[in-house]
Amino acid sequence: MRYLTVALAKGRLAARAMEMFEQIGISCEEMKDKDSRKLIFANEELGIRFFLAKATDVPTYVEYGAADIGIAGRDTILEEGRKLYEVMDLGIGRCRMCVCGPESAGERLKHHELIRVATKYPNIARDYFHNRKYQTAEIIRLNGSIELAPIVGLSEVIVDIVETGSTLRENGLTVLEEICPLSARMVVNQVSMKTEHERITKIIRALERTGEK
Ligand code: PRP
Repeated sequence: MRYLTVALAKGRLAARAMEMFEQIGISCEEMKDKDSRKLIFANEELGIRFFLAKATDVPTYVEYGAADIGIAGRDTILEEGRKLYEVMDLGIGRCRMCVCGPESAGERLKHHELIRVATKYPNIARDYFHNRKYQTAEIIRLNGSIELAPIVGLSEVIVDIVETGSTLRENGLTVLEEICPLSARMVVNQVSMKTEHERITKIIRALERTGEK
């Protein structure tokens, strides 16, 4: 039997996704060793293997078929814009993609003035400002601690993930507009969806059933 390969976004999401796989009888004991530097883990009996990748690389592995299935946040999937099927909302890692900034920046958003936007998600930000708001925006790409940008004057607003809202609050910022809700999604390679249809749909159905409980 050919291995079914699953790419998981490294970190909290991978741990929670593995718990869900365990609940449907797909476990991978090897993966639980926290000290291990191993990157790929197999359940020989079930012919399934998992690997951990940087979140932004998960859609790439899936589009090229190096992984049949991927688990990643909707933020990453939207940002990467890869050709793949999004088949399931795992209902974990719920948060929101938002335009945030100091209260005073709200006016700038209303009047469609040129605005500078710092973000780790340039494609999502560009699409939102150009195609949904018809506002000219200069998108400035950053790699982390995005909340700093409006505080030190790099940009007027940011586009970023808001979960509890505490990072914003502690830095005197607020949600100005909501772009979309986010959560972890399962994505599938377009060819695998045909060639491995039975095995993949069996997993999806089982995961859906545990979600309903
Ligand atoms: C994310 C996000 C926000 C924060 C939101 O950052 O970019 O900064 O979490 O969470 P909260 O609403 O619960 O405060 P992350 O910790 O991933 O690090 P980063 O700043 O390097 O992006």
